Amino acid sequence: MAAWNVGKVVERTQWSKMLYSLYVESDIEPFEAGQFVKMALEINGEVIGRPYSLVNPPDHRPLEIYYIEVPNGPLTFRLAKLSSGDEILVASRAHGFMILDEVPQAKCLWLMATGTGVGPFLSILATDKPWQRFERVVLVYAVRTLSDLSYQERISQISVKHPGQFTFIPFISREPSDFALPGRIPQAIIDGRLEAHVGINISTENSQIMLCGNPHMVKDTTNALIERGLKKHRRFDPGQITMENYW
Ligand SMILES: Cc1cc2nc3c(=O)[nH]c(=O)nc-3n(C[C@H](O)[C@H](O)[C@H](O)COP(=O)(O)OP(=O)(O)OC[C@H]3O[C@@H](n4cnc5c(N)ncnc54)[C@H](O)[C@@H]3O)c2cc1C
Ligand SMILES: NC(=O)c1ccc[n+]([C@@H]2O[C@H](COP(=O)([O-])OP(=O)(O)OC[C@H]3O[C@@H](n4cnc5c(N)ncnc54)[C@H](OP(=O)(O)O)[C@@H]3O)[C@@H](O)[C@H]2O)c1
Repeated sequence: MAAWNVGKVVERTQWSKMLYSLYVESDIEPFEAGQFVKMALEINGEVIGRPYSLVNPPDHRPLEIYYIEVPNGPLTFRLAKLSSGDEILVASRAHGFMILDEVPQAKCLWLMATGTGVGPFLSILATDKPWQRFERVVLVYAVRTLSDLSYQERISQISVKHPGQFTFIPFISREPSDFALPGRIPQAIIDGRLEAHVGINISTENSQIMLCGNPHMVKDTTNALIERGLKKHRRFDPGQITMENYW
């Protein structure tokens, strides 16, 4: 059972028709970039809670979550209506193993997300760890349409701060675009387009991959990487692939 604190919404950003960020002031135990926390609302006398990745880095407040309003989703339908001053329940502890301390050393760190799965990677990228540990850091962020590609300003700031070390590769799958790659991440690994675009090969020796978001993307990408000789990372059986499924 989560121990709930009563948090206060201090700001809300609406990025598009369905996509929001919520900024919440609440006590929380120290956490690692990449972890998630449960947030909840009392709905018809019942506390309905769901996990949300923290977008803010550990030393930054307020807490920030990035979420999509899922059609008929019991919680997100209500989350989308919150505004400044509203209360929200926040678990006192964050959890999760999609953190850099769990990722072995390599030359290149690939962070691959669909949709809201970019959130924990933005938290990781706002810390010093990736820049101290990896020669190259690639953020791959796949969405359906350009209007789903949130946080572009924050990503541009990362590019400016870490030139040469950071590469951003957006994918837009459902409309033409003159700056993003078309299609899906796993197919672009299979046909070599992703690595050709970045100019780095993915290999067991030089790469660590973190995957987050749509479980179908996580599964298909994992399979594409397994075909290339990579394997899931486990503490007692080190590999190259670390993942988090959002549903
Ligand atoms: C570890 C973890 C971290 C998560 N972090 C986030 C996060 O940072 N942001 C976020 O938006 N969601 C996140 N989720 C999903 C989140 O917990 C909820 O499931 C989601 O917000 C929908 O809640 P709901 O009650 O409205 O619907 P639910 O009944 O929970 O979900 C209904 C359906 O919506 C779809 N769905 C759920 N989440 C998403 C999503 N993110 N994008 C697209 N489709 C989705 C799935 O088909 C799911 O079966 C995370 C889930 C896990 C397990
Ligand atoms: N985003 C919107 O504008 C919108 C509008 C209405 C409803 N919704 C609802 O929101 C949820 C989805 O939100 P979303 O757009 O963030 O997530 P999504 O469906 O996970 O799509 C995000 C990206 O992941 C890709 N993807 C899906 N399956 C994949 C796979 N097996 N391998 C690799 N890539 C894969 C998608 O490509 P493809 O495009 O090729 O699938 C897309 O580029 C659904 O519940 C949907 O009904 C969203």
